[in-house]
Amino acid sequence: MARLLITGGSGFLGGHLTAGAALAGDEVTAAFHTLRPEGGPPVRWIRLDLEDERATIELIRRAAPEIVLHTAAMSKPDDCERDPERAKRVNARGSGILARACAAVGARLVAVSTDLVFDGKTPPYGEVDAPRPISRYGWTKLEAERAVLENAPGAAVARIALLYGRPALGGSSFSEWLRTSWEAGKRTALFNDQYRTMIGGANLAAALLELARSEFRGLIHLAGSERISRLEFGRRLGARIGADPALIIPASMADVPSLASRPADVSLEIILACRVLRTPFLDCREGLAAAYF
Ligand SMILES: NC(=O)c1ccc[n+]([C@@H]2O[C@H](COP(=O)([O-])OP(=O)(O)OC[C@H]3O[C@@H](n4cnc5c(N)ncnc54)[C@H](OP(=O)(O)O)[C@@H]3O)[C@@H](O)[C@H]2O)c1
Repeated sequence: MARLLITGGSGFLGGHLTAGAALAGDEVTAAFHTLRPEGGPPVRWIRLDLEDERATIELIRRAAPEIVLHTAAMSKPDDCERDPERAKRVNARGSGILARACAAVGARLVAVSTDLVFDGKTPPYGEVDAPRPISRYGWTKLEAERAVLENAPGAAVARIALLYGRPALGGSSFSEWLRTSWEAGKRTALFNDQYRTMIGGANLAAALLELARSEFRGLIHLAGSERISRLEFGRRLGARIGADPALIIPASMADVPSLASRPADVSLEIILACRVLRTPFLDCREGLAAAYF
C-alpha cells in the first residue's frame, strides 16, 4: 500500500490507474483539470493546472506522495497543432515543473509518454532507437521525457501505444470512438496502412502500477503484444460487439487529411517490459475480450 498521486485522473488512462490503485488498497489522490468525475472509487480528488507552476509545486508539497503517476497532458495531436504554445506549456514545461516538485519531496515519478515520439519509418521501436517526432504533440512529449529524466532522480518514463477499452472513470479511447460512432449509425474510415501495438487501458494500468512499485528507472516501452492495422482492429472490435460491417470503410492515410502528421507504423518493442514486469501484455483478441464482454 502506497500514498499515490495520479495526474490526469479524470482522463482515460488516469481513470484506469485511479480505479486500479484504489482497488489494490493504495491511498489515492487523483487530479482533474476541468471536470471532477462523478462516482467511482473513494479517492481524494484535487484540481491541478500544470500551467500554474506555484500551485503545482504547492499541491505536491501538501499531498506528499510516495509515488506520482503522471498521465495529464494535452493528449490529442490535432489540438496540439491548433494551440502549440499551450501544448508546450502543459506537456513539456508542466512535466518539468512536476519533476522538480517530485524531486523536492522525494517522490518516485513515473511519467507517461507516447509512441508518437517516433517517425514511423523503421519499426518496431526499442528504447535505444532515436526518437524523431513528426508532430508538435510528439515534440512536446519528447521534451517532457527529457525534463522528467533530467529533473527527477530515479524516475521512469513509459512510452505507451494507442489505447483501447471502455473508460473506468472518464476519457475515451480509439475503440470507444468506434463503438459510439457505430451505435449512432456513423461510418468510420479505418486505415489499412497505419499500424500500432495497441493496448487496453486496464492492461496498461496494471503494468504501470507494477512499474511504479518497482525500482526501474529510465525509459521503457509498454504496449500490446500484437502489431495490428487500425482497419483490422476495427474489424475485430466490430465482430466482437456485433457492429454492422458496412459501417467500416477501409481507407489509406493519404485519403483522410488531418492537422497533425501521422506516422505509419510506430509499433513498440516490449522485450524490456517483459523482462522487468510480470504483468502479461495482451494481444488484441485477449484485450478486446477483457474489455468488451
Ligand atoms: N490516448 C492514447 O491512445 C495515448 C497513446 C499514447 C500516449 N498517451 C499519453 O497517455 C496519457 C494519458 O492519455 P489519455 O488518453 O488518458 O488522456 P485524456 O483522456 O485526454 O486525459 C488527459 C488528462 O489530462 C488532464 N489535463 C489536461 N490539461 C491539463 C492541465 N493543464 N493541467 C492538469 N491536467 C490537465 C485532463 O483533465 P480534465 O479532463 O479534467 O481537463 C485529463 O485528466 C497522456 O500523457 C498521453 O499523452 C495516450
